[in-house]
Amino acid sequence: MHNLIIKILIVCPQGFSCCTLEMEEKLSQQSRTDVKAPVHQLSSNLQNTFTQRHRHFDQFFRELLSNAEKSLNDMFVRTYGLMYVKNAELFEHFFSELRHYYSHGSSAVNLDDMLADFWTELLERMFRLVNVQYEFSDSYMECVSRHTEQLKPFGDVPRKLRLQLTRSFIAVRTFTHGLVLMPEVVGKVSTVSASQSCVRAAMKMLYCPYCTGQVALKPCKNYCLNVMRGCLANQADLDTEWNNFLDAMLGLAERLEGPFNFESVMDPIDVKISDAIMNMQENSIQVSQKAFQGCGQPKPNMAFRTRRSPKDSGFPGRFRPYSPDARPTTAAGTSLDRLLTDVKKKLKHAKKFWSTLPDTVCVGERIAIGDECWNGTAKSRYESVVIGNGLANQVSNPDVEVDITKPDMVIRRQIAVLKEMTSRLKAAYTGTDISFVNEDAGSGEESGSGCDSPPCDSDGDIYFSTPAPAKPRIIKIQPDKQPSSGTRLAPFSLALAVMALLLALLTPHTR
Ligand SMILES: *[C@@H]1O[C@H](CO)[C@@H](O)[C@H](O)[C@H]1NC(C)=O
Repeated sequence: MHNLIIKILIVCPQGFSCCTLEMEEKLSQQSRTDVKAPVHQLSSNLQNTFTQRHRHFDQFFRELLSNAEKSLNDMFVRTYGLMYVKNAELFEHFFSELRHYYSHGSSAVNLDDMLADFWTELLERMFRLVNVQYEFSDSYMECVSRHTEQLKPFGDVPRKLRLQLTRSFIAVRTFTHGLVLMPEVVGKVSTVSASQSCVRAAMKMLYCPYCTGQVALKPCKNYCLNVMRGCLANQADLDTEWNNFLDAMLGLAERLEGPFNFESVMDPIDVKISDAIMNMQENSIQVSQKAFQGCGQPKPNMAFRTRRSPKDSGFPGRFRPYSPDARPTTAAGTSLDRLLTDVKKKLKHAKKFWSTLPDTVCVGERIAIGDECWNGTAKSRYESVVIGNGLANQVSNPDVEVDITKPDMVIRRQIAVLKEMTSRLKAAYTGTDISFVNEDAGSGEESGSGCDSPPCDSDGDIYFSTPAPAKPRIIKIQPDKQPSSGTRLAPFSLALAVMALLLALLTPHTR
């Protein structure tokens, strides 16, 4: 304590002082607070901005997921009626896995496996439905499942959907992580306390005029800059990685507006899955024949012919075609677009935050303009040169003693954290999740397909690039065709037969 007082006593110029020893000590404490206050204020504004943006995005993505589920449910109830209702848990599971993946990433859900399981399960259920006249054992169905790849019952939909979901989910998850990380980094950096020599310099700048009787005298601008650059030397060294990180965030934001647009993947997911189901219905004869060739001729279902006629059930009303709302195919004009426009502005604004802190602090009320200012010894022009930002430049700081061989460890750590996040953002930009790069090394050929050039958008992707919304297909009813033996039926009337049979099969349970 004694040492500290000695130091404080020599802060202000020798000679006349109206400050007692106790006052100087108090003023020194005050200086510590004063030097931190504006930095604290600016940092917490920045923290609030991005905490809020994260909340908006997170809420929006979760809403998109639940809206997609609701809209699929509504459409499928209208279009497939009981057939859907009876199998609704398959789709509920699908969406709950997507939500889980959104929250916890690939450590919780392997998206490729999850999607493969979904299509296999859907194939199994539909295969039984389009072949009700046969009986299938579990081992027979396992055989059919094994042939899913060759049978391609759902056309190109599973492949496309996997690609779209993978890259847009990775983009969304990484982007929201970036938004969470910003306030964390700012928070940790703003806890770094001012060094002893910084506090001394600040006290000399802020309170020595007062102790020498020049109460209202404010520091010269360049004097203030040198003191603050000395005090914030370590913080300024964050700037390079901070800016790289912000550029990577901005890059990914562009991806989210364009080819990795989560909204235009999730919003029409009902139409996409419905397309897959239509594909299966249209291909059901070929798919079944191929399955019979590969897995053997199934046993006829003895109960089949004793069920009541589909004519009695009066179900065709269930096939009311759905009319999809005009769905956006790009982010333009959508809610995601608005969110991204706003967040991009904030990200750009946050650039150079750390290196410009001294300039942001040394303005207005805190300094005096011109030569009628406190230069550290007198009311006079400040003669020293303004030194640069960052630790290395502080060797020649005339006002703050800085040990340039001892970088602040908290700040070093945050530089490393930002570096790592930037790599993840850049990988997400190409559709890759590098947080699990080792586990994913052997998986899907598309997951790492570098999308950093235009070809990415032009893979004939009807859900992204075509301005016209994907035209949903409608099951056409041909009511005068009597369903009899499955194999001779046209696909549409086969679907009709399936519905009738399903309804017939369900009836006993509802009684
Ligand atoms: C402050 O002003 C005094 C008197 O003019 C001068 O001697 C001194 O060098 C100045 N200090 C700086 C750092 O400019």
